[in-house]
Amino acid sequence: MEEKIRNKFRELFNTTGNVYTSPGRINLIGEHTDYNGGFVFPGAIDKGMIAEIKPNGTGVVRAFSIDLNDYAEFGLREEDAPKASWARYIFGVCREIIKRGGMIQGFDTTFAGDVPLGAGMSSSAALESTYAFALNDLYQLGIDKFELAKIGQATEHNYCGVNCGIMDQFASVFGKAGHLIRLDCRSLEYKYYPFDPEAAGYKLVLLDSVVKHELASSAYNKRRQSCEHVVEAIRCHHPEVEYLRDADMNMLNEVKADVSAEDYMRAEYVIEEIQRVLDVCDALVKGDYETVGEKMYGTHYGMSKLYEVSCEELDYLNDIAKECGVTGSRVMGGGFGGCTINLVKKDLYDAFVKKAFADYTVKFGHEPKLYDVVISDGARRLH
Ligand code: GLA
Repeated sequence: MEEKIRNKFRELFNTTGNVYTSPGRINLIGEHTDYNGGFVFPGAIDKGMIAEIKPNGTGVVRAFSIDLNDYAEFGLREEDAPKASWARYIFGVCREIIKRGGMIQGFDTTFAGDVPLGAGMSSSAALESTYAFALNDLYQLGIDKFELAKIGQATEHNYCGVNCGIMDQFASVFGKAGHLIRLDCRSLEYKYYPFDPEAAGYKLVLLDSVVKHELASSAYNKRRQSCEHVVEAIRCHHPEVEYLRDADMNMLNEVKADVSAEDYMRAEYVIEEIQRVLDVCDALVKGDYETVGEKMYGTHYGMSKLYEVSCEELDYLNDIAKECGVTGSRVMGGGFGGCTINLVKKDLYDAFVKKAFADYTVKFGHEPKLYDVVISDGARRLH
């Protein structure tokens, strides 16, 4: 991949630049908890974006996406926003840096990635973090890693229409090989947990349903609104509650009559999910993978029945996992399509994958995809 990027860069711009990379992420547990001030438990993976980049001494960015075979040119003022959605990620990062006082100028860049798009593995965070990290390094802006993650998140909010939390960008910037990150999304305190399922006799495997539902971002934003409605209602009794993270089931039940049945279910899921993250972290320290797996099924149930961000294909993959005796399985990421993450005992692995492929293909007329992932380092310059 890197060679392709370098060749294209030389062909288009007749020079060479620096090369940077940032990864996608998995999340063992803790979905839709980040924007509720709760905990998440992600790790960066060995799939990401790579970009070559060099300042060109003008006010214009010239960018080429190798995967999409598409070129874009844009200036750095707010009114220069490009049309192509891939280019808006790069533009957004530039704008967010400029808003923070970062003095950057035009640059030339080519990039490519191997994070599957729409699979819930945060290809967009990988892209944002690559450019935030690269520009900070190239222009010696001295922005710290927390702010780099926030720049990526703000890009989603302000230029891509997704009111996401901080998990994806944080994992992409702070990732550490062989470790998951327990992140408190309210304080941004984080702790690395060694994670080596293979040593304990398990494999972590992602099964991609290869479906991506339209309107995923508006449905995502709607979930966030539900949570905010419930917080508003709870605050009438408990003004100290800032996020659902600060609430418990008693507080939620107090306002049951004041919120819609739908909003109640959303909040119930979030409150339970935040606790599941803490339980999984404790279980992991004890090497208790059975509990880890049980909580993962709990998350799937909640995401499917209470938060309603699963879909037929993902529920089906989850059912197959259960039938095969897989230790843990659940929809991963924002939902509305994408992958299940499965914690599978090594001796079950072959039979599970075989059955999942066969049954899924019969039912939906196309194969799922399988990804093995290795927990890897976060944003960095290559070489
Ligand atoms: C997407 C968002 C994250 C997070 C997850 C769900 O990946 O970008 O901020 O909310 O969904 O956990």
